[in-house]
Amino acid sequence: MPRSNLAKKILDAGNVPKHVAVIMDGNGRWANRRGQPRSEGHEAGVEAVKAVVQAASVIGVEILTLYTFSVDNWKRPRSEVAAIMRLLYDKARSELNELNQNNVKLIATGHIDGLPVTRRNALKHAIKSTSRNTGLILNLALNYGGRTEILQAVKRIARDVELGKLTISGIDEGLFSSYLYTSGLPDPDLLIRTSGEKRLSNFLLWQTSYTELYITDILWPDFTSDDFFRAVLEFQNRERRFGELSRH
Ligand code: FPP
Repeated sequence: MPRSNLAKKILDAGNVPKHVAVIMDGNGRWANRRGQPRSEGHEAGVEAVKAVVQAASVIGVEILTLYTFSVDNWKRPRSEVAAIMRLLYDKARSELNELNQNNVKLIATGHIDGLPVTRRNALKHAIKSTSRNTGLILNLALNYGGRTEILQAVKRIARDVELGKLTISGIDEGLFSSYLYTSGLPDPDLLIRTSGEKRLSNFLLWQTSYTELYITDILWPDFTSDDFFRAVLEFQNRERRFGELSRH
């Protein structure tokens, strides 16, 4: 991918976010506006995913987490759920070479064992096949819910206390984080949400405590690499205080 001026500006400024998370919203509206079924919006959304994966790699983002399917998305019409699951299956197979060529390591966050078995197996195969890659970590949040994640962590911690593996006084933020799906990953520095809604929608509730939020009206299938770069440039101009006083 040729380096755009925006990418150059980002690299000149330094301070590239390590971890960027994205709520990819607006596929349905994009399709509606064209008089197409919602599944076409998701299909077009995959092209935006590819553009953003490339863009994130170019500027040296380490982790890109994409909100691909939430625990609440099962409530959508069966045909739409099936279309998204089929896309996941198809792309996990057809994009595998591309991921390996670009040194991208695929991982997943969420209740993966709750996905339909053929879809889950294709995903696991792609994860295994890219596990030695050392470039961008592409983290797909699948069957993911922030409250579910926190509750399962609480239950597992309680069980370990019961078993005597942990003491209550040993429970701190670091330990709690290690019981989340995202164990071992740094918290996101930047969260991008497309299509204008101003909410977290049960995404990474614990992990986004100090994350910078960037909301754009652009619908996900229209989101380009330059739009991604613009979000990162804005991030670079923000002052992160983590509850402290300004340093200026
Ligand atoms: C939100 O738009 C999008 C989703 C729930 C699915 C995201 C899935 C993809 C981009 C395709 C699959 C990706 C991979 C990596 C295989 P929406 O349907 O909520 O849009 P709306 O708010 O306009 O209805």
